[in-house]
Amino acid sequence: MICDGTPVALPTETVYGLAADAFCEKSVGSIFKIKGRPYNDPLIVHVAKFEQIESLAFIPSVLAKLSETFWPGPLTVVLRKKDSIPAVVTSGLPTVAVRIPAHPLFREVLEKVGRPLAAPSANPFGSVSPTRAEHIVSSFGESSPYILDGGSTEHGIESTILSLAETIPVILRLGPLSSDELNSVLGRLPAEQLNADNDIPKAPGSLPRHYSPNTSLQLHPSSAAIHRSIQNASNPQTVGVILLKRPSPNEKWPKKSKVQWLSESGNLNEAAFNLYDTLRKMDSDPQIEQIHCHAAPDKGVGSAINDKLSRAAH
Ligand code: TXA
Ligand code: MG
Repeated sequence: MICDGTPVALPTETVYGLAADAFCEKSVGSIFKIKGRPYNDPLIVHVAKFEQIESLAFIPSVLAKLSETFWPGPLTVVLRKKDSIPAVVTSGLPTVAVRIPAHPLFREVLEKVGRPLAAPSANPFGSVSPTRAEHIVSSFGESSPYILDGGSTEHGIESTILSLAETIPVILRLGPLSSDELNSVLGRLPAEQLNADNDIPKAPGSLPRHYSPNTSLQLHPSSAAIHRSIQNASNPQTVGVILLKRPSPNEKWPKKSKVQWLSESGNLNEAAFNLYDTLRKMDSDPQIEQIHCHAAPDKGVGSAINDKLSRAAH
């Protein structure tokens, strides 16, 4: 199915992907159609083993060490591509994004198919990535692709993207792996190039507005700032609040406002795991007209959470 023009949604350890044979232009074309994704936004190619990358891209020496440390796992690297990869996958760029995923179901499929699979996140373009099979069904409805249901994804946010195609390593997208962790292998902090500064962004997922819920969303540095912002709301039922951790018993929120927290204790990995599911729940509550979120501490996966939230707020 994956190889005959019909992409299939599969769980990865980050978010669900919509996968098809990376060497089959027709199948890859279907991915863009199903997602409503512009053709200038390239896809990540997933492989089971390091050796498979040789057929796709030129391998810089640092990649072996990165692979040993972080693969299989939530790291995508951008490399100079070889001609084998159809231009539709890479949007005609001279580079290709590659990742070795860890999820056992995805790995089983990769091993059975024996070919690299191109897979973007399995959501309509610009909307919140799916972390559970139900999210895909609720986004696509009747036209939902076939889904291999593997339960909730482990990290809950998309892979960290590191470009090794520049003279210095550059982070194109923040994710579960922090720049400090990458530094431990690279021996230097990678540069960050997260914001699109021209029409062809380095990683189009870094467009300022992305990961968007339909309901208006604001990001705040503290609970006090959220309180100030919602105190004039005429109807507390229309207010959704997303906190990082369970509020203490003496912290009072307006009775009818809907308050959720991403982690009992404020654990940032747990917060990332719950982020998109919580955003989706708030977004689909017909009463909620405004969502107010508490920003995470700006370190490690907290920086990635803030990056997603500030794009959702844009
Ligand atoms: O965790 C993930 O990375 C998930 C799972 C399914 O692997 N995939 C994912 O794919 O998030 P997608 O398509 O939603 O995001 C991939 C991002 C896009 O922003 C795209 O522009 C960027 O990677 N990208 C792909 N190829 C690139 C390239 N050659 N150069 C720069 N950016 C690239
Ligand atoms: Mg995506």
